[in-house]
Amino acid sequence: MGATVLLYGSGAREHAWAWKLAQSTEVTRLIWVASHIAAVPEKESQWSLEVWNPEIGFEEIVQRAKTEGVQCAVVGPDDPIAQGLCDHFVAAGIPALGPLATGAKLESSKSFAKEIMQAAKVDTAAWVSVTDRSAGERALDRFKSPWVIKADGLALGKGVKICSTRKDASQALETLLELSGNVVIEEFLEGEEVSWMAFCRGDRVALWDTSRDYKRLQTKNLGPNTGGMGAYSPVALFQTEEAFERVRKDVFLPVLHEMKKRGTPFHGILYAGLIFNSSTQRLSVLEFNARLGDPEAQVLLPRMKDDLWQWVMRVATGEGWQHDQVRVGFHDRAAVYVVGAAEGYPDAPVKGDSVSGWKWKESLRSCQDPSGFVAGMKEPGVTSGGRVLGALGQAPKLEEARALAYQRLETMRFRGMQNREDVGVL
Ligand code: AMP
Ligand code: GLY
Repeated sequence: MGATVLLYGSGAREHAWAWKLAQSTEVTRLIWVASHIAAVPEKESQWSLEVWNPEIGFEEIVQRAKTEGVQCAVVGPDDPIAQGLCDHFVAAGIPALGPLATGAKLESSKSFAKEIMQAAKVDTAAWVSVTDRSAGERALDRFKSPWVIKADGLALGKGVKICSTRKDASQALETLLELSGNVVIEEFLEGEEVSWMAFCRGDRVALWDTSRDYKRLQTKNLGPNTGGMGAYSPVALFQTEEAFERVRKDVFLPVLHEMKKRGTPFHGILYAGLIFNSSTQRLSVLEFNARLGDPEAQVLLPRMKDDLWQWVMRVATGEGWQHDQVRVGFHDRAAVYVVGAAEGYPDAPVKGDSVSGWKWKESLRSCQDPSGFVAGMKEPGVTSGGRVLGALGQAPKLEEARALAYQRLETMRFRGMQNREDVGVL
């Protein structure tokens, strides 16, 4: 008998999780708690996929998971992690890949993350945390243009404002105070950004390869911030032994030690959003997330050489993690992923358009080279808003992977589709 795994989440990131978990021969049954059409049930010899509706709620999900003999639960998105879904699984005796709510605070509270970094002596932008207008105005006076103002809680990528005039900064302060009641104002940093994920348990860490996402809606970084319009991996500038060592020593280990010292060890995937200034050589943390990035997962998981299930169990149970396993294995090839978002995204995404080239009918397990991942379809071939789908290209060189991703995106078009033209352009 192989393993039964439960996966929670309806995004394209979770489609990538599902695909990669299905590649592991030790996994014979995947229960996917998701509300979109990529999750169509499958049954083959040695493999089955079933789908549960997330509307049944946390308690029933955990109860049923226990009855069904789930060996491990993987929680993809930030909201259920911050709401303590992993705590529920662990309390019921089911190992979970994802931190407890105490660890999720590294993502869900920017001021908490700053406090941890300060205690752990990890470089980050200088900051002030405020809860009212006048303290906020005084804080703004301490910094200069451009001003960086962030809402403290989870805000779906809409909680960060970068303003070039003092007047806009005051306006942003007011808006974000209304949104979250607690705002962080910080120093603007310049440099190259990179998304760095790692499997973590207590003070153990195994770094993933590097990737980069594109947060703005339009080509050349124009338009509003989004959940992410594409990604590529690896990022050559950071894919060196020295960079891996520095990131392990200066970012991950000190933060993990600090969390452990406080009696809240972090178990799960920690994502550091980093920025490197090549003239000063300063490497700083912009943010932490307590999960895999979306869309970074859609380029990282396809490149992963190691068996994902084995890593999931090492992280969730602490068993079988050898001391020399400090990096996760990846294939040398490059991957590029381009999102096709609905018309009107991110403010008012249109629903109900048909997607002509919808063709992911392959079984998750037998598909070797996924052409893309899907998030915003609730019936076959009909969009249900947001970041509907994305096309993936993998090839030895970044330019080739990019050409393939864009060629595939052409076959998946729908009315009003928005996509960036420059994903993977260096
Ligand atoms: P965050 O959600 O905190 O990662 O912020 C989203 C994006 O805003 C980052 O990916 C950066 O591009 C930008 N950003 C955030 N903080 C800063 C900062 N202190 N200096 C410059 N850019 C920033
Ligand atoms: N790609 C950014 C995020 O997942 O938060």
